Amino acid sequence: MRIVIASKSSEETLRIGRIIGETASPGEVIALVGELGTGKTCLTQGIARGLAVPEAYPITSPTFTLINEYPGRLPLYHFDIYRLEGASDLEDMGYEDYFYGEGVTVIEWAERVLPLLPAGTLFVDLVYQGEHERELTLVGNEELIGKINNLWKEGGC
Ligand SMILES: Nc1ncnc2c1ncn2[C@@H]1O[C@H](COP(=O)(O)OP(=O)(O)OP(=O)(O)O)[C@@H](O)[C@H]1O
Ligand SMILES: [Mg+2]
Repeated sequence: MRIVIASKSSEETLRIGRIIGETASPGEVIALVGELGTGKTCLTQGIARGLAVPEAYPITSPTFTLINEYPGRLPLYHFDIYRLEGASDLEDMGYEDYFYGEGVTVIEWAERVLPLLPAGTLFVDLVYQGEHERELTLVGNEELIGKINNLWKEGGC
């Protein structure tokens, strides 16, 4: 199932993220696809809030480490693979323990590792529309996308 959400500000993108974090279950993988500055890290900050990662943890892109891990209602594994040399980098770090673990995995630049993503991955495509506008397309299983859509429309989270 697929829904398109127009975000008019970084606050709205944070709210979409918060809804995604609130509805996430153990082992969920969230693949973020979008050009530089489209809001992937902003969305991840919202996901972290939705997973109840304490405010004391600033969510910044793990540029030099590939992954940052945060405690929350479920652990959050935040990958940013912009600088990835090849899939073997991920294999070397044991990515399967994260992708198939009990936490929630968020991957910036996920299009670079499409073949490694588990079935059931939630995809979020972010497209720049203007200085403060982004179009987010969510693709995933019907039940989850339905829940996210309802919360977004009801103004929840
Ligand atoms: N509607 C919006 N949603 C998200 N971010 C927005 C929006 N409008 C403006 N912005 C701004 O766009 C920037 C997005 O930056 P962010 O670091 O989240 O992007 P990114 O996709 O992670 O970039 P990178 O590819 O460098 O990792 C922020 O400065 C944010 O304030
Ligand atoms: Mg980023």
